[in-house]
Amino acid sequence: MSTIQYSIPDSAVIEKLKAIVGESEVITSGEDLENYSHDETEDLVYHPAVVVKPQTAEQVSEILKICNENLIAVTPRGGGTGLSGGALPVYGGVLLSMERFNKILNIDERNLQAIVEPGVINEVFQQAVKSKGLFYPPDPASKGSCFLGGNLAECAGGPKAVKYGVTRDYVLNIEVVLPTGEIIWTGANVLKNSTGYNLTHLMIGSEGTLGIITKIVFRLIPLPAHDMLLLVPFKSAEKACESVAAVFRAGIIPSAMEFMERDAILFVKEFVEVNIEVEDDCNAHLIIEVDGNDMDQLMRDCEKISEIMYDYECGEILFADSEQRKSELWKMRRAVGEAVKAHSVYKEEDTVVPRAELPRLLKGVKQIGNKYGFHSVCYGHAGDGNLHVNILKNDLSDEHWNNALPKGITEIFKLCVELGGTLSGEHGIGLVQKEFLPIALTSKQIEIQKNIKRAFDPNYILNPGKIFPGN
Ligand code: LAC
Ligand code: ZN
Repeated sequence: MSTIQYSIPDSAVIEKLKAIVGESEVITSGEDLENYSHDETEDLVYHPAVVVKPQTAEQVSEILKICNENLIAVTPRGGGTGLSGGALPVYGGVLLSMERFNKILNIDERNLQAIVEPGVINEVFQQAVKSKGLFYPPDPASKGSCFLGGNLAECAGGPKAVKYGVTRDYVLNIEVVLPTGEIIWTGANVLKNSTGYNLTHLMIGSEGTLGIITKIVFRLIPLPAHDMLLLVPFKSAEKACESVAAVFRAGIIPSAMEFMERDAILFVKEFVEVNIEVEDDCNAHLIIEVDGNDMDQLMRDCEKISEIMYDYECGEILFADSEQRKSELWKMRRAVGEAVKAHSVYKEEDTVVPRAELPRLLKGVKQIGNKYGFHSVCYGHAGDGNLHVNILKNDLSDEHWNNALPKGITEIFKLCVELGGTLSGEHGIGLVQKEFLPIALTSKQIEIQKNIKRAFDPNYILNPGKIFPGN
């Protein structure tokens, strides 16, 4: 834990906060406060002393100045869908909820850009640009409730990242309030920018530790006219993983290439209604989507993909033949995380390796599970080499869970790094992975990152307890 002694916001501070945002936008007790004490990370709960809901960058600036002067910890929060504990107020203090920053300010159809506030829900934004024939591809599983600001904070990915890239690839410029209260823009609203260090990219993935995002300028792309979706069953989960790299080698970039182990689908079937038969000998599925403007080309791509899949001993391939079937399959895929959570207490690891190393990662995860006596359900973005490893508590004792598990997770992360990968592809380090950071980064790398943190936040008030071990 940090050696900094943070102050608890006293009544004088709370009165000042009320004067800034209005009495109704400050919460100090009751059920409302409870709602801000957890995100989607495991079963973790930390209570803030006070929740503050600003609506403008100027209000955020005033709040941060007070907290900075009084050494009060500030934890920013978006939609509360995070999986690494980034929005958990581990030092109490002020929880800064960005929910009132919920406006799409402008969609510029001439330049294919949009200016958006960070509390806009991902899917709301996607639909708004879609209605103009435009496309914002990053689509995390929680797109129906996650905020764009949180997507930037964690550099969210999602299924379409394999073809279209992650959040980072769509952000041109950000308005940020620094922990010391100054308001800056990080870049310019241009597609190319070689003007000094890239503060925009530094903010993305900084997990709410460097500044508060108050406006985002996105670039958009034209919406592809068509897509096609395949569901491919496999007897061997490793063979399913092996087939992934072969598709790209054959010259096709699918717009999604998702992997689900047998249990992932079985758990979802218990959780939401989906009409999918899982044969007794089926151990994994791939969901493969292709998109573009030329339907004939997509048909040819699907034929080629099918040939490759059969080389890897897949079962009968299902073509989703209606929009309803496609959305049902996507609903199933997006529900896996919640379905696992409903099944058992679990820990989520967001492992990522170079795509062709995925079979070795999967095999290693299972071997490590056998060694340490835990069961895992694996699924995720196979095309990105990004495997979500969900380790189930089931009936393991607390003693086993608390002592053996960290050793097993350490081995999994060491394997990732040996395979050329790293700890997190899209969920961030946050609270729950921070002690593992030295597996992936050298002390020099961590020192540089801490110096950056200091340059932005000299008093260490913003989202303390995150990313760095021991803080
Ligand atoms: C998913 C989330 C957990 O891929 O990242 O479902
Ligand atoms: Zn994911």
